[in-house]
Amino acid sequence: MKQENTDHVFYRSQVKVLPEIDYGKGIYFYDTLGRRYIDGTSGALISNLGHGDVRIAEAYFEQAKKVEFVHGTQFSSRGVKETAEFISDFAPGDLNRVYFVSGGSEAIETAIKLARGYHLSQGNVQKHKIISRWQSYHGATLGALSCGGRSGDRHPYTPLLLNFPHIVPCYCYRCPFGLNPKQCNLECAWDLERVILQENPDHISAFMAEPIVGATLGAVPAHDQYFKIIRKICDQYNVLLIADEVMTSLGRTGRWFGMEHYDAVPDLLVGSKGVGAGYYPTGFVVAKENIFQSFKKGPGKFSHGFTYQGNPLMGAVCLKVLTIIKEEGLVQHVHELGTYLMTRLEELKQNHPIIGDCRGKGLMTGIEFVKNRETKEPFNESVNLNKRLVDEAFSRRLILYPGSSGGMINGKGGNAIMVAPPFIITKDQLDELLSILDGTITTIEKQVMA
Ligand SMILES: Cc1ncc(COP(=O)(O)O)c(C=O)c1O
Repeated sequence: MKQENTDHVFYRSQVKVLPEIDYGKGIYFYDTLGRRYIDGTSGALISNLGHGDVRIAEAYFEQAKKVEFVHGTQFSSRGVKETAEFISDFAPGDLNRVYFVSGGSEAIETAIKLARGYHLSQGNVQKHKIISRWQSYHGATLGALSCGGRSGDRHPYTPLLLNFPHIVPCYCYRCPFGLNPKQCNLECAWDLERVILQENPDHISAFMAEPIVGATLGAVPAHDQYFKIIRKICDQYNVLLIADEVMTSLGRTGRWFGMEHYDAVPDLLVGSKGVGAGYYPTGFVVAKENIFQSFKKGPGKFSHGFTYQGNPLMGAVCLKVLTIIKEEGLVQHVHELGTYLMTRLEELKQNHPIIGDCRGKGLMTGIEFVKNRETKEPFNESVNLNKRLVDEAFSRRLILYPGSSGGMINGKGGNAIMVAPPFIITKDQLDELLSILDGTITTIEKQVMA
């Protein structure tokens, strides 16, 4: 008999019945029926320190006993200041002023307004549009969705969206120009200049991009020269570069920040998931000093804010999270295990003809599936490959991240999943995860190739 939701929660899906969680420990979840799951995707690349870390719970409890909340316009707190200092110390270049919020979409909205505020302070009153890329994900609120490039997510809300232009993604496996990354001239980066000129440089406030495209494409890194060219174009046309590091920041890619892989410093860097690691809803934008100074010397304030931003509980929890990552050398561990993971994924590719591409950095990896490896022809959408893979893995108690629900290939079709376990995973646990993944792919491959 088909189960139905009978509780009063308005879930994202009105038809799917979710198991009830009991507790989490390390890389595992346990539901109320006693079943154990491997968290192969850190929730949604959030739970970087795994689950049930008592040290963080204690930091939360200690802070809550002292003072739980103050409004961000009335008090600061030690944890908030030290978290900002920590982020500034590790962020590239002179990105060193941190504006805290409660999540990724809020942080993206904040970056859009910070860019606008900066240009206003410089007298560039017409600069307001954000250019971003197709096949990107920047969040669900209307400003963030206007920047995002997942057609499926945008379509129901198109009349509500801002008129922001998009350029092609840097997606070497399926180059939008049909070129080979070893021989190309980075046409995908120069597309930015074309669109800035076409739109009118006086209207363009910023360019926003994920250093490694997460949710939509399944862990696609940029060409290693991409962001150097983007940086040059942004400088030439007085356009700010906003790096959306909601997924990639604070160790996930084997470096503290994803942009470190490209040797280019953005003007605004947006982070979120890893800073609270699932223990506190947090987001942030870290701004270059000159942007901060433009507010300080200009209006003296940033007209924007959210009730929960930068409260003492947030500060205490995030500081503990970052301290653990640093003291336990987890960024290096991510780098080392990530290298191992990529080797093992390449082995899986040898054994499974439906794997077209394995990619990523650190513990942010993706697998793209194809019907035909030679032609890269994707599976028909009716095959529902992503859902089948993720459901099969779930039935084997492995949680995977389904990418591409908004369409990878020109807004339609294509299949990828992400494998992105918590930083604390051991090599043995990774082997366990990979063996379940192998079994999952074997089962689905037989079904779809039959
Ligand atoms: C790159 C990127 N930007 C922004 C967001 C939005 O973050 P949130 O869901 O916390 O609003 C996400 C969420 O997955 C993301 O991956």
